[in-house]
Amino acid sequence: MVSSGRHCLTVQMVRELSPRLAAIVDALPLRPGLRVLEIGGAPGAAARAVAQRLGPGGHILVIDRSATGVSQIERLAAAEIQRGVLSARCVSAEDFCLREGEAAFDLAFAVRVGALDGRHPEAGSIARQRIRAALVPGGPLFVDGGDPLRQVRLEAPDRAW
Ligand SMILES: C[S@@+](CC[C@H](N)C(=O)[O-])C[C@H]1O[C@@H](n2cnc3c(N)ncnc32)[C@H](O)[C@@H]1O
Repeated sequence: MVSSGRHCLTVQMVRELSPRLAAIVDALPLRPGLRVLEIGGAPGAAARAVAQRLGPGGHILVIDRSATGVSQIERLAAAEIQRGVLSARCVSAEDFCLREGEAAFDLAFAVRVGALDGRHPEAGSIARQRIRAALVPGGPLFVDGGDPLRQVRLEAPDRAW
């Protein structure tokens, strides 16, 4: 059992991708070599499946605002992290920005993250601007709630950070 606070799940649940997340990973327009950003991706189940499809030239960064969640990713995706195909960072979508010298991402996705699925509109607006700034021009953001995904419009920044 991997258990801490609200993040409580069996190792089995993380190792085996659920049908829900498998359908989402299948629906992403992935190809080898892409740089992918997942928002709110703890404990890393979908990210590990994505990393498999990106091959050695690609990379997925998973951000999550929960330090516990990030620790779980680091533990459960240790092999992918060691191979350099996956990394994890503790930051909220609303505060996220590329680090100095960090390449932009080709696409982003988020599953069951309140700021991006319409549950928290104000946080969502800030988060979408942050994500847009971290993507290559025209890079898409996909969220759940479609069939199974929908693409979200990314508006231009309207405020200084
Ligand atoms: C309901 S869980 C979903 C986890 C995973 N995406 C899935 O579908 O199994 C939501 C996750 O998103 C993270 N999260 C929620 N709001 C966030 C935000 N604004 N920025 C970054 N992470 C966030 C939470 O810490 C949690 O790990």
